[in-house]
Amino acid sequence: MSILVTGGAGFIGSHTALLLLEAGYEVVVVDNFSNSKPEVISRMESLAGQKIPLYEVDLRDEIGLSTVFENHQIEAVIHFAGLKAVGESVSNPLYYYENNIGGTITLCQVMEKYNVHKMVFSSSATVYGKPDQVPVAENVPLRSTNPYGRTKLMIEEILRDVYISNPDWSIALLRYFNPLGAHESGKIGEDPNGIPNNLMPYITQVAIGKRDELLVYGGDYETPDGTGIRDYIHVTDLAMGHLKALQRVKNVTGVEAYNLGTGTGYSVLDVVREFEKVTGVKIPYQIVERRPGDIAECYANPNKAERELGWKADKTLADMCRDAWKWQKVNPEGYSESLQKKFDSSIKN
Ligand code: NAD
Ligand code: UFG
Repeated sequence: MSILVTGGAGFIGSHTALLLLEAGYEVVVVDNFSNSKPEVISRMESLAGQKIPLYEVDLRDEIGLSTVFENHQIEAVIHFAGLKAVGESVSNPLYYYENNIGGTITLCQVMEKYNVHKMVFSSSATVYGKPDQVPVAENVPLRSTNPYGRTKLMIEEILRDVYISNPDWSIALLRYFNPLGAHESGKIGEDPNGIPNNLMPYITQVAIGKRDELLVYGGDYETPDGTGIRDYIHVTDLAMGHLKALQRVKNVTGVEAYNLGTGTGYSVLDVVREFEKVTGVKIPYQIVERRPGDIAECYANPNKAERELGWKADKTLADMCRDAWKWQKVNPEGYSESLQKKFDSSIKN
């Protein structure tokens, strides 16, 4: 029996697929490489010491997806595949609705056809919008402020309806807070296209000299140092949360949402200072206007995941900074194949 990982070539999917392999699961990856590169699969294979069945298939391609279920006995699906850039979702909402919601609907139809009813879904803390209070627990009213977030909200609703229609389904909705870091080997990590939107990839690109300075979006929030506060979680801890959720969906039916966060909030300047401390590299920054749509603070109440999944994040912000920096140093151009030789020699040294 295999676990199908959709979006398994992406940032979080690759780390999770690797952990599954290390835990002895058979893994099949489906990805259309719209936001990733095939190179990641070779690196995962070298880390895992085994071949990984890979299908370059778009989730909306029902025939292509059915082939995967024909060729493998799929026991459960961990569903990462989706588009995730908030700004792009505002300028191109139909692309987001079509890809994220359309892809999920086709996936559920194919799963139903092949009698597979266990799913772990990548939701997001974005479903809390601007929370009325922090730490935020799963049972507060949900809202979203952009099309990307609404795709997550709508998919959560769709999955609840799917369960109501057939109580054989077992679905975990994992609401991630802010994933950072990389695999400790330095071989796999986050590889954003163009100018990074997110804080840590931006910091590491400043550190390596690709960008001059960090722009800190807003210094006048009602937080202790005036900069935004988030719940940063190591991608390896996040990956482990999926293994725990998988164990749960294998044993009970129903739909449950879980926050995957640490429960601790750090400000932008906390992250900058920690990065400088851990790496010894100075990060020049300038405080500028707030970024539209940002909120002052958001961090998780992760108690439900600990209680019901037996999962708790245990890596520190220092671990996240150290691993993100190692990844950036070893892979200054991410997975770009032109730098493959440089990567190989730096791993040898
Ligand atoms: P990512 O872009 O690195 O990975 C997503 C993968 O899905 C990519 O490899 C992409 O090529 C693939 N994909 C997209 N649409 C597809 C389709 N129609 N068919 C097949 N493959 C498709 O993103 P990530 O950071 O690894 O995020 C994984 C999931 O977690 C996403 O659903 C994202 O919305 C969610 N999430 C991410 C964050 C974050 O900050 N990274 C936070 C909360 C939730
Ligand atoms: N920030 C900067 N400068 C930058 C980038 C970010 O100051 O160049 C600040 C932001 O203003 C915010 C904090 O750093 O205060 C974190 O910003 P990110 O862009 O890294 O993360 P967000 O919390 O804005 O959003 C992320 C994902 C969303 C997801 C959300 C909740 O990008 O997709 O977490 O999971 F919905």
